Amino acid sequence: MTDRLSGVKVLVTGAASGIGAAVARRLVSDGADVLLADVNAEGAEQLAGELRQSAVTVDVTRGADIQRMLDAAYDRWGRLDVVFNNAGIGEARPMLDITEDEWDRMMAINLRAVFFVLQAAAKRMVRQAPLPGSEVRGKLVQTASIAAFRGGSPHLAHYAATKAAVVSLTRTAAQVLAPSKVTSNCICPGVVDTPLWKKLDSDIAEIEGLAIGEAWKRRTSGIPLGRPETPDDLTGLLSFLASRDSDYMTGQAIILDGGLTMGP
Ligand code: NAI
Repeated sequence: MTDRLSGVKVLVTGAASGIGAAVARRLVSDGADVLLADVNAEGAEQLAGELRQSAVTVDVTRGADIQRMLDAAYDRWGRLDVVFNNAGIGEARPMLDITEDEWDRMMAINLRAVFFVLQAAAKRMVRQAPLPGSEVRGKLVQTASIAAFRGGSPHLAHYAATKAAVVSLTRTAAQVLAPSKVTSNCICPGVVDTPLWKKLDSDIAEIEGLAIGEAWKRRTSGIPLGRPETPDDLTGLLSFLASRDSDYMTGQAIILDGGLTMGP
């Protein structure tokens, strides 16, 4: 437990599981106040109870839910210093078999919702005062992926397209919001051991006739640092991004992947 983030108010979407849950834990242990948002009400409430924080049940694809989520933060704190815009889904399908419904669902959660959470948060952040001692009014942090940069799997066409777009949005937001002293960055994790990857593993097993766990093994075997990524590997980066130390950083897509994408 540190007080590095003492007084910092953070909203985390996708906080019930995986990366969002690990980040919520870390930020609270660094002294931040965290509002945990997820469509999985039970999971978010359970973790919030454990961390002595609050939870809000939201489907980030719904505009009214996004407003309710931000109202919950602003009613409580009167401001939001950091939004970790992280909720997302993963699904593997052969590119030639992706249906319109599958495409639309992926875009709705991993791209459209990310944009409208970012937009709604930015509208409020530009009107709030900077944190005492800082020139920054607020920080937006999106979760993209190394999938934004490499066609790592032939079965992730729709997923990878959303993540490339999240990098793009991150940069546009950084430019648009810089004069208002609101920053925008995104993180690009590698292959992280979460329920999302369990689903990818089982989708790929079905597509390619593999045993469960094979796709995961194949994908993680070449990681230069010699092991799969865990959600905890990402938490120090988020602690930095939520802190004063990142005040001068904006428009960046930060890869944290054990060296997977460094190239030969
Ligand atoms: P996860 O499945 O453990 O957690 C995702 C959370 O988002 C879940 O709690 C889920 O209920 C929530 N969620 C999904 N749809 C939602 C909606 N419509 N409204 C509100 N909440 C919703 O997955 P993980 O791995 O922690 O994923 C978090 C983010 O990290 C995602 O954006 C994912 O694309 C990204 N990512 C994951 C990687 C991995 O290898 N696991 C690698 C790179 C990026």
